[in-house]
Amino acid sequence: MNLEIDRDRLCSEIEVLAAISDGEPPAVTRIVFTPTDLKARAWLRARCEDSGLTVRQDAIGNTFARWNGSDPAAPAVGTGSHIDAIPNAGKYDGVVGVLGGLEAIRALRRGGFRPTNSIELLVFTSEEPTRFGIGCLGSRLLSGSLSAEAAKRLKDGDGESIEDVRRKAGFRGDLDEVKLPGGYYQAFVELHIEQGPILERQQTPLGVVTSIAAPASMRIAIEGAGGHAGGVLMPDRHDALCAAAELILAIENAARSSGAVDTVATVGICEVFPGAINSIPSRVRLSADIRDTNPERRDGVIRAMENTCNAISANRRVAIHIEPLNADAPAESAPSVVEALSNACRKHQQAFLPMISRAYHDSLFMSLIAPVAMLFIPCRNGYSHRPDEYASPEDIARGTLVLADALATLSA
Ligand code: GLV
Ligand code: MN
Ligand code: MN
Repeated sequence: MNLEIDRDRLCSEIEVLAAISDGEPPAVTRIVFTPTDLKARAWLRARCEDSGLTVRQDAIGNTFARWNGSDPAAPAVGTGSHIDAIPNAGKYDGVVGVLGGLEAIRALRRGGFRPTNSIELLVFTSEEPTRFGIGCLGSRLLSGSLSAEAAKRLKDGDGESIEDVRRKAGFRGDLDEVKLPGGYYQAFVELHIEQGPILERQQTPLGVVTSIAAPASMRIAIEGAGGHAGGVLMPDRHDALCAAAELILAIENAARSSGAVDTVATVGICEVFPGAINSIPSRVRLSADIRDTNPERRDGVIRAMENTCNAISANRRVAIHIEPLNADAPAESAPSVVEALSNACRKHQQAFLPMISRAYHDSLFMSLIAPVAMLFIPCRNGYSHRPDEYASPEDIARGTLVLADALATLSA
């Protein structure tokens, strides 16, 4: 089979999708179920249909674009990622796996390949947690790791329920029906930018992911006492932001002192109320995101954070409430899919590194219901979740070629 990636078309599609954004270019912002997300979905659906794929969407908006194999009853081979983007993001996170996956399928068709198992491009809904607080919404529901009942309780920052939001966006049906039947996928492969610096530093063009680190996140609400910035003397204060500052540094310290570089912790949201220069902060809302390849060590950081909250609460007489959002297990890639990817790298004479994904991905949840592995390409300086995220056309095309080859092996 003559497998050729149409690099120019793929890269121009990445640019077109990047322009469907609520961010000031080059920043990309595409939050799930906004008009912009719906426009991007419609554009993508048309590209899949133009490519001869049959498209369906489930009740949460996960999109499946299928190329039927000669044995349509056999489990499918899946590939894909997400197109939602956090505020002020780049062009490549998720998108490379979606448009690269589509181009891999087109290249296989052009090359005259005939799959036995159907090959399906899967575009997951809301990999990013921006709107509903929890990431990987689509894949959590597909895998059954999040029940329909629990999903229905999710609300966005404006208090709108996921049921209302998705229905307004045109997604009907019952969330109970999203979970995939057992054995739906024979294998699932996700192409993604690395979102870290290792491939670039090691001058290696590809990474084959052998495991995905365990993520956990929570919301933290701190209630102190407000008052006049001039009138309230220091001994009488219960400043919620000062409590938050102590807590943020304690979380950083707990991660730094875990004894492993694999422990990472981030406070990415800090909302201060009332937010006036001459008013003592009475309320602060924080988020915390804590991850590790070792879930026990990660949970140790969470416990240290909880103990610190108790101490700060007692010392400063503020109330601190922690609302856990998720605490997921790590995922191991399936040896069979790792082997298909590694063999495809070797066949195309491409060096690769076995690696850990420190970012989470929908593959974390797909691994609960299918043999999964991921393929990483480098991104400049390891930058991601920022507007200057960049992956070169060569690296994108190389990853897409290896993906196509692995899909061929897995579906033959
Ligand atoms: C995914 O975007 C992550 O935060 O790892
Ligand atoms: Mn992301
Ligand atoms: Mn991603």
